[in-house]
Amino acid sequence: AVPTDLAGRHVVVSAGGTREPLDPVRFLGNRSSGKQGYALAVTAAARGARVTLVSANAELPDPAGVDVVHVSTALELREAALKAAEDADAVVMAAAVADFRPTEYATGKIKKVEGVEPAPVALVRNPDILAELSAHRVRSGQLVVGFAAETDDVLANGRAKLARKGCDLLVVNEVGNGKAFGTDVNEAVVLGSDGSETAVPVGPKEALADVVWDLVAKRLETIGGR
Ligand code: C5P
Repeated sequence: AVPTDLAGRHVVVSAGGTREPLDPVRFLGNRSSGKQGYALAVTAAARGARVTLVSANAELPDPAGVDVVHVSTALELREAALKAAEDADAVVMAAAVADFRPTEYATGKIKKVEGVEPAPVALVRNPDILAELSAHRVRSGQLVVGFAAETDDVLANGRAKLARKGCDLLVVNEVGNGKAFGTDVNEAVVLGSDGSETAVPVGPKEALADVVWDLVAKRLETIGGR
């Protein structure tokens, strides 16, 4: 039987990877497929939640029964996520948000000029949406969950990131060497701000999603307040 422990809850999930435009045809992007975020949205809906999926450039069909807001850049994702979070019980930031964006946007296509070296690309920091959502909970008792892709010292870096971001749960996975990005499986450790550590063995992204919702549902129940 499918648990309905998220019935009556509104959850927001971000998915995909942002694109930061340089000119009308070029962008800085990343390899996130959006599969983990979509798996989170689908499993939350199956458990009875109302789901808002803020999707950045994921080439995946809109899941049935989920409200999808399509965005492209980090700034657009921020606006959509903050708005959707206003009445959310939980926000899960599974999207790969670009840390930097080009300082300037060329309204015309950047051209190569014979004999002239290209100008370096200047970058500026994007706001950290997860840290912002964690610091200013728009609703008391709202849970905020982040994701962290690490290539080394996974647990130590994860703990430090959890503290820095101020979120309740951080799903840490190891990337690189063909792991996680674009694949259908994931392996992770979910770190809790209460010191908890939940290992999730290699498996489908839906299985990891269900572990995240188990932890979220349990915490929401403890906090009470609907
Ligand atoms: O700092 P790092 O990019 O490793 O953190 C990853 C987590 O932070 C993810 O949950 C991602 O969605 C979120 N993030 C964000 N805003 C940024 C960068 C990352 O919300 N500008």
